[in-house]
Amino acid sequence: MRAAITGWGSALPERVLTNHELEELVDTNDAWIIERTGIRERRIATGDETTASLGIAAGAEAIKHAGLTPDEIDLLVVATTTPEQPMPHTGAFIADGLGLRCGSFDLGASCSGYTYAFVTAAALLTAGPLRNVLVIGSDTLSRFVDPTDRGTCIIFGDGAAATVLSAGDDDGPGLVAWDFGCDGSATAMLGIPAGGSRLPSSIETITAGEHFVKMQGQEVFRRAVRAVVDSGMLTLGRAGVASSDVDWFVPHQANVRIIDAAGQRLGIPRERTIVNIERLGNTSAASIPLALVEAADDGRFADGDLILLCGFGAGMAWASALVRWGRS
Ligand code: UT7
Repeated sequence: MRAAITGWGSALPERVLTNHELEELVDTNDAWIIERTGIRERRIATGDETTASLGIAAGAEAIKHAGLTPDEIDLLVVATTTPEQPMPHTGAFIADGLGLRCGSFDLGASCSGYTYAFVTAAALLTAGPLRNVLVIGSDTLSRFVDPTDRGTCIIFGDGAAATVLSAGDDDGPGLVAWDFGCDGSATAMLGIPAGGSRLPSSIETITAGEHFVKMQGQEVFRRAVRAVVDSGMLTLGRAGVASSDVDWFVPHQANVRIIDAAGQRLGIPRERTIVNIERLGNTSAASIPLALVEAADDGRFADGDLILLCGFGAGMAWASALVRWGRS
């Protein structure tokens, strides 16, 4: 049995934060940000917009698009790095907002989270009695970014996207092959040091800004390209397909230079790569599904197309998945 994508939806905060506005906040400029990252603007959660509220909006759209009702969703998996609160899990808030009564859990693998969640959901669908699983990637990293750190505040944006995976035929569309990886020796390269059991929040951690994202940008960049290429190749090898057979490459949107370098090494040209970083920045676990949903809404995917998802990020964790597009 294969798990096909039968519905999708997305939700973005109203507020657009442009590079020019960032020029007023930190020592940076529009030209540098565009040249070094490819980002012109990003969305920022304000007021009541949270990881769960965006996830609820995206999830509702995906359920409706799949032609289902909330009671037909058998499981909810939420990929997020920026949970609604430490406890309970964000899936509980989203399930409540959507009127779901099925099981739910959060999956934390940072910017690779959606790809991990997608593969996990597909495996559960093929293993058990489930028919429809809602997989959501939602993040509000702007709430965890130091507004005075130009190495991070220029990159991250907020958003959510959701897909419904439904059980289908063995030889139908859905997950074809995948790869997961993680090099835990690199945990210090990208993360939020305080607020967990290792370093609980205190006046000292807040004074030191340890509740904010810290990133060694250059080193993360170098490893990201390698991880995407190696994992992507492994997944293609497992599926027995060449990169020339891949119709669409949907990479994590962290930096357009990473996307281009990885695409070049994988042998997938820009015309077959989904890129929306210019308008949304790096939305962490939401980035791959947001790109996927945007391209699906545009009608860029045709039934039978092979789509390669590649995520990487803090951990450093990475994941890739080859998906055949179409309903069963
Ligand atoms: O999603 C999770 C995974 N995250 C990533 O994949 C992020 C990967 N890293 C990156 O995207 C890039 O490393 C950054 C965009 C964060 C930084 O770009 P970079 O090209 O690696 O810049 P750099 O740190 O090598 O800095 C180059 C120069 C430095 O000036 P000097 O020393 O050459 O005079 C920096 O001080 O650019 C300067 N700089 C800036 N200038 C204007 C660094 N940040 C900025 C800035 N605006 N925001």
